[in-house]
Parts: sequence; structure tokens; C-alpha cells
Amino acid sequence: MNISIIGSGYVGLVSGACFAELGNQVICADNDAKKISDLKQGIVPIYEPGLEELIVDNLKNKRLKFTSSIKEAVRASEVIFIAVGTPALENGEADLTGIENVARSIAQNMDGYRLIVEKSTVPVETCAWIKKTIAIYIKKKHKFDVVSNPEFLREGSAINDFNHPDRIVLGLETLKAKQIMTNLYQPLNAPILITNIKSAELIKHASNAFLATKISFINAIARICDKVGADVKEVAQGMGLDNRIGRHFLQAGIGYGGSCFPKDLEAFITIAEKLGYDFGILKAVRNTNQEQKIFVLQKIKDALWIIRGKTIAVLGLAFKPDTDDLRNSPSIDLINALIQEGAKIKVYDPKAMEKAAKILKHVVFCKDAYLAAEGADCLIIATEWNEFKELDFIKLKKKLKRALIVDGRNIYDPKLLMDLGFTYLGVGRGNG
Ligand code: UDX
Repeated sequence: MNISIIGSGYVGLVSGACFAELGNQVICADNDAKKISDLKQGIVPIYEPGLEELIVDNLKNKRLKFTSSIKEAVRASEVIFIAVGTPALENGEADLTGIENVARSIAQNMDGYRLIVEKSTVPVETCAWIKKTIAIYIKKKHKFDVVSNPEFLREGSAINDFNHPDRIVLGLETLKAKQIMTNLYQPLNAPILITNIKSAELIKHASNAFLATKISFINAIARICDKVGADVKEVAQGMGLDNRIGRHFLQAGIGYGGSCFPKDLEAFITIAEKLGYDFGILKAVRNTNQEQKIFVLQKIKDALWIIRGKTIAVLGLAFKPDTDDLRNSPSIDLINALIQEGAKIKVYDPKAMEKAAKILKHVVFCKDAYLAAEGADCLIIATEWNEFKELDFIKLKKKLKRALIVDGRNIYDPKLLMDLGFTYLGVGRGNG
């Protein structure tokens, strides 16, 4: 099939590269000319495992093209995905300016039937607005359909998530749209759920909000665990073995971050408010996530007494492993709070250092975990990169001024570290 994807961010690039890999002719468009000229040479602006190889391969075999001309993209393809950003406005609402602009451009440039597929995370009824907008600006009376096809891929495992989705949700209205979309996704051999458009739009928000709720719930349980001497990992395991609960998204830590959960939760709270519903549960989820960062900061303060003048090593900057994405990263919030308190910060992250250098001032960037630990009064694990799980603790202990580890992601065995002479503080591991 001939497909265009408007918006070459995370979702757009991963979807574009994966659809090309499935054998489609794909054009990825973006109005950032520099980004497009880089992508044409195989320079990918984000770190996502496997993405660069996929883009380079498909550029070579000419199944993938990049353009800064929406017109070219719209003219060349019957199926057009909208994957532009929907950043948060000050009041928490999603800014849909990008979506409206794209809808207008599609209308002005289409020269025959087009299937417009909305993939960005948007409030319910956005597809209805896209439909109206196209109907207003369309030049000739060409036919078109609008489909809602929310994306569930996670950063760090986006390509695998694209190729092996738990489900593909298609909110649509016509048989033609159904045929095209099911043909497109047929090679993935995954369960397809066909719904009405508004349900599909809601599924995305409801899913992300539910996952964030699971995380805040287990973080709240971690608080109780610390007070009574229970271990949240054991509690989560015991809960997760119940199939009705499930074991995923029950890892306590320094709170969720990233480009989706914080923004989507805020947007969903605002959507509900506009509809006259006070979504109290989600407000509590948001507050628990905020509190979690303060809770970890307090742990560090309790252990160090005075923060001012102390050297603190932070391992992990990205909001989760296997990405260089720093958006809403709890690690960055923690570092900024520690700097405010007067700490000297040394950091190391396997992939996110370059991006961090643009936003973090007054920190020392180190080439590896041991250099970061050198002379530090405390070492914090802020992102659970695999390489931090395999550190040489004897070497690490020699480097640290004080053998104090605050394991913000619960990646270590407390007993093992304590036996080696470390003071170990996890999140909800029952030790204060
Ligand atoms: C999320 C959704 O999972 C995905 O379906 C959607 O399309 C986009 O948003 P992403 O933000 O890439 O994906 O990462 P995810 O793995 O969901 O993690 C989000 C945050 O939650 C991270 O900061 C992570 O550290 C945190 N998290 C996740 C926890 O603190 N505990 C957990 O058990 C799981």
C-alpha cells in the first residue's frame, strides 16, 4: 500500500519504518526541514533500539521516503496517518493546532479518495473535528474516511510493540475503511478490535490512565511497606499472580514520567472536567506521583542529614531504560531538587547524556558509573538500565566516599548489598 505519515516524531517514525518493513511504500512528512534532511541521510533524531537500522535499510531499498512537503505526501498516498504532537497547554488540555493544520492541508491537497487515520493521542471527538475540517476545506467533492487508530507503543521497545501488539484498535464507520485498515495490519497477525470512532479515542486515554493508576497504586503501597517493614516487590508479586490484577506495571519507584502518562493524565482530567465529571481517581494518581518524588528526596535527606555541599552520584537520566528521552523524567526533577538543596551532582546515563547536557546545568557528566561514584556521599539509581544491574559492587564501594545506595528503581537485592557493607535504601523495601 502507499502510506503517508504526517509527523516524524516517535510514533510517526516507528510506524513509518515498521510499515515500510512490512512491504508498504511509505512517505514520512514533517515540517521540520532540518529533521527531514537528516532523516534522508539516515540520521535519526531519537534513540530507539533498532530504529536507525530499520530506517537506513528501508531508505536503501526505497520503501521509505522523507519529505517536508505535506502536498507530496498527500498526493502520493491513499492512506494518510496523522502522528503530529499534541503538547499540553497551560491548562492541561491537549493543543490540537497541529492536528487542525494537517487536516486542512490534507483537504487542500487531496485529489481523490483518502483514508485519514488519526494516531496521535487526542481527546474524544477529535476525529469528528478532523472530518468537519476536511469537509470545510476540501476543494472538490472527493470521498474520504476518518479512522481512529490509537498507538500503544512504549519507548525503548517501540519496534517490538509495533510488530507484536496485544491488540490493534480501529475506530471506523465504513466498510471501505475497515477493508483497507484490516488489510494493512493483516501481516501482524494480531487481534483487531473494531469499534466506533469515539470508543477508540477513549480506549487510548482510558488505557494510559489505568496504567498510571497501577503505578501510583503500587507506589502508595510502597509507602506503607516502608512503614511496616514489608517488601513491596514481594507484595507486588503476590498481587500480580492473581490473573485479574496481572503482574505488569506494578514496579514501585521514583514515579512515572515520559511524554505520555503525565500529559495524557492531565488531558484526561481536563476532558472529564469539560464533560462535567470530576475524575477524582486520576487527580489522586497524579498527586501520588508528585509525592513519590518528594518521598525519595526525603529518604536521601534523612540519610545524609545535610545535603548542602555533599556530592551525590545519579545513575540514569532518561525517564526509563533504552531511550534517551528526558521528557518529564523523574530523574531530572530529583537532580534539580538536589541542586536546589545545595548538592554537587555527578551523573551518568548510557544514552541520554547528550540531551541532558542541554537542560542540566551545574552537574558533572561522567563517562561511566564508577567515575560518577568517585568521591560521592551517596549513589542514586534513578533509571533501571541493565548495565546498572551488573555493576561490580566491590569496585563501586571503593570509589564511593560513603557506601550509601538509594535504589530508586528497586533493582538490587537489599540483603546482598547490606552484606557487602552498603547502607541500602530502596522504595518500599521495608527499611525506612
Ligand atoms: C506509555 C504506554 O505504556 C504506551 O502504551 C503509550 O503508547 C505511551 O505511554 P512509555 O511512556 O513509552 O509508554 O513507557 P512505559 O513503559 O509505559 O513507562 C512510563 C513510565 O512509567 C516510566 O517513567 C516508567 O519508569 C514508569 N513505570 C512503568 C513505573 O514506574 N512502574 C512500572 O511498573 C511501569
